[in-house]
Amino acid sequence: MEDTELKEVIVKLGGSLITHKDKPMSVNVKSLKRAVSMLKIANTRYFLVHGGGSFGHFMALRFNLSSTSKTTSIEGISETKAVMQELNSWVLRILVNEGFRPYTIPPQFLFKSWNLVRSLMERGLTPLSYGDVIWDRGFRIISGDEIIKEAAKILKPKMVIFAMRAPGILENVEDENSLIKDLKEKKLPSFKPAQYDVTGGIRRKIEIAFEIAKLGIDVIFVKGDSEELAKAIKGLPFRGTVVKGCRDLE
Ligand code: IPE
Repeated sequence: MEDTELKEVIVKLGGSLITHKDKPMSVNVKSLKRAVSMLKIANTRYFLVHGGGSFGHFMALRFNLSSTSKTTSIEGISETKAVMQELNSWVLRILVNEGFRPYTIPPQFLFKSWNLVRSLMERGLTPLSYGDVIWDRGFRIISGDEIIKEAAKILKPKMVIFAMRAPGILENVEDENSLIKDLKEKKLPSFKPAQYDVTGGIRRKIEIAFEIAKLGIDVIFVKGDSEELAKAIKGLPFRGTVVKGCRDLE
């Protein structure tokens, strides 16, 4: 029998949740702390990933780095890597202060370190990674979402959660009442491209969610700095968007 109790939850702390997206290099400490305290309340085993927000995206844009092309700007590579490491230190510190025992693995090493990830989790540590600049036959940005997709394939988690600023996926970004509760591939609304985003914005995020759902894993989009996050992890009714895992149905 499968031991579902031991299965972890993969959570992406979105850049728009943990930073002030319109203010370069500004951590949204309040939202970050609240999201982390919700993770603590829900009390399960996690694999955590955070995004870049006004750290990574700002710097990547400044030096023209993206997830779809390679860069030769050594200044851009270094500066973007530096600000992501800085943001990671904030996340790490707040996790520690809330009682987690996080251990950062930058994505450059993560994909060769799944045994390390498992060892960490077995010992009660929380593996943490983040969107970053990686060498991939040339330097490019890897988004936190891309990392999550790989992690989901390997770890086969109980669920994948995108903790975001918005209450879920909205049909109309300006209207919080236009929440899509049950997101299906065939009836996708057209999303406006984000103002600044070097990794494909909400559209790419949703594509990744469908790819994960095809592994049979539920993917949830929920407001990260609210109790809805803890409810979603605990399997209680919550306000947010669900992409139902669907391996057996297709
Ligand atoms: C972006 O990661 C990383 C860099 C720009 C270096 P994400 O694409 O996952 O970040 P958010 O969550 O959208 O801010």
